[in-house]
Amino acid sequence: MTDWFPLALCVDVPSGTAAPARLRGAEIALWRGPDGQIHAWEDRCPHRGMRLSFGFVRDGNLACLYHGWQFGADAACRHIPAHPELRVPGTIRATAYKVEERAGMVWVSLDGDADAAELPDQSGFGARSLLVQVPVDVVRARLELPEKGWIWRDGALVAVHESEAGLTMLHLAAGNLADRNEIARRAKTLRDSLEARYERVCA
Ligand code: FES
Repeated sequence: MTDWFPLALCVDVPSGTAAPARLRGAEIALWRGPDGQIHAWEDRCPHRGMRLSFGFVRDGNLACLYHGWQFGADAACRHIPAHPELRVPGTIRATAYKVEERAGMVWVSLDGDADAAELPDQSGFGARSLLVQVPVDVVRARLELPEKGWIWRDGALVAVHESEAGLTMLHLAAGNLADRNEIARRAKTLRDSLEARYERVCA
């Protein structure tokens, strides 16, 4: 089983924004700095636990919405507005995960030893991400996904991850930019067929 999971399409986390994602029930904040670098952190501020994905990007830092603590690209707290003169202890930091962008998708690993060689090595263009109300094991079996959890099929990269128990996120990327709209439509058709078939089996 792979250690990498495709949590979002790259285009869905533009520069200067933060977005929430879930992986096996864990809440993760994705954010992208003005330099284009993507980050994946535990979606929990080390101060009082506010979701960091509610925050905003300022001066290359991610600022928490609650009390405005700012965290740099290395996840260390850089600034506490209530104590502007304070030299912030280096122990105050967000929890950062390994993250890579490949084939138009944002891949995250909670395992610090994960090897990026497992990831797709050809270019791709994110087409669509959809929630599928079917358990991930059923989706994997139905799509005949290999152990690594993704496959290139008919010009599209198809990848899934478990959002939480019973729910799967389905992501499709196009190998060619010109095919992106058609593959986005294919994602919806695939989602509908996965849910309809699962409903019939469970009925
Ligand atoms: S909870 Fe984030 S700064 Fe207070």
